Amino acid sequence: MTLFYEPQRLRATTANNERSILFVGGFLLKAKISALGCYTPARVLTNFDLEKMVETSNEWIMERTGIAERHIAGPDVATSDMAVEAALVALERRGIQATELDAIILCTVTPDMLFPSTACLIQDRLGAKGAWGFDLVAACCSFLYGLTTAAHLVSAGSQEKILVIGSDTMSRIIDYTDRSTCILFGDGAGAMLVERAGQDEQGFLGFLNEIDGSGGDYLKMPAGGSRMPATLETVQNRQHFVKQEGQQVFKYAVRKMYEVCRDLLARNGFTASDVSVMIPHQANRRIITAVAERLGLPCEKVVINIDRYGNTTSATIPLATRDAIASGRLKKGDLVLFAAVGAGYTVGANLWRWTM
Ligand SMILES: CC(C)(COP(=O)(O)OP(=O)(O)OC[C@H]1O[C@@H](n2cnc3c(N)ncnc32)[C@H](O)[C@@H]1OP(=O)(O)O)[C@@H](O)C(=O)NCCC(=O)NCCS
Repeated sequence: MTLFYEPQRLRATTANNERSILFVGGFLLKAKISALGCYTPARVLTNFDLEKMVETSNEWIMERTGIAERHIAGPDVATSDMAVEAALVALERRGIQATELDAIILCTVTPDMLFPSTACLIQDRLGAKGAWGFDLVAACCSFLYGLTTAAHLVSAGSQEKILVIGSDTMSRIIDYTDRSTCILFGDGAGAMLVERAGQDEQGFLGFLNEIDGSGGDYLKMPAGGSRMPATLETVQNRQHFVKQEGQQVFKYAVRKMYEVCRDLLARNGFTASDVSVMIPHQANRRIITAVAERLGLPCEKVVINIDRYGNTTSATIPLATRDAIASGRLKKGDLVLFAAVGAGYTVGANLWRWTM
């Protein structure tokens, strides 16, 4: 892309937030979400199915998590396959060709393989010949960090269209003999197209992301990386599966999701009553309702679809956004608050003025 005008930077100061805004040729560059596509595999694993696999009950799972069922990918389906399906829907909805994409950000903790990056596999399958891209690993915050990154690249003026895809095949790293984790997760994918907004549109308003590595031990997949490469022993010890200390993660998630939402709203000059709809990461219904209560958000403003999908890690936010649109709860002009907490720990929140 050629810029014909010298970009000028303007520092905009609000109550306690300072950020730079790029003007090109006198125009303010902003990013918006212009299309959404989702994919979930057909096979459904219900709580009643899980009752036959581990010592658990539908009642316990419903009461402690709010999950009734989750979708599970077939044996020949990998993360890139679901990502491509979601991407094709988003491109079709926007009415553009993959060749028009500038970049692909693939958010996942379950790449097809460690390298090459799954973004490359998707780029090839889509025929997105002009795109660069990369994988972004931030557990359940991956998709939000992808949105944040794409919004900044577009606002900087160097990129016009970036496809952010969250895709996770969690069933490949879940131990279906461990009742404390196998009930929680499902598979799925979602894609949002982030592109330059028109002058009369708002789109991306702000973000607040944090990481806290002191929580790394509480939720992880221990083996398969350079610290503990795959051996017969790591496989026998089931160390290629998700391990979690649920209560630690639960308490942290409630506290930090509330804090980043509260602070992000305040630094952008909003209060909770300005929020049209909150779309949180779906890890546990009790986490979401506790955060909403602390923020003072009524339940009709908070999207929960964990009952049907479980925790799909990088895909929860696009899947919940699709449901919010379908049910008429998310409309053009709405102020949307996205929020997540994940392994790492990773924490994040985004504010967008919805433009679709
Ligand atoms: C995992 C989670 C649902 C467990 O719920 P919890 O209320 O914390 O339950 P606990 O782990 O304290 O376990 C309570 C009891 O239920 C049992 N239990 C655990 N899983 C069970 C299951 N699937 N079915 C029946 N009982 C179960 C435990 O063994 C324990 O029994 P005990 O009291 O005899 O020792 C909850 O901690 C959670 O959602 N944590 C956060 C998860 C998360 O957000 N992860 C992803 C972050 S993005």
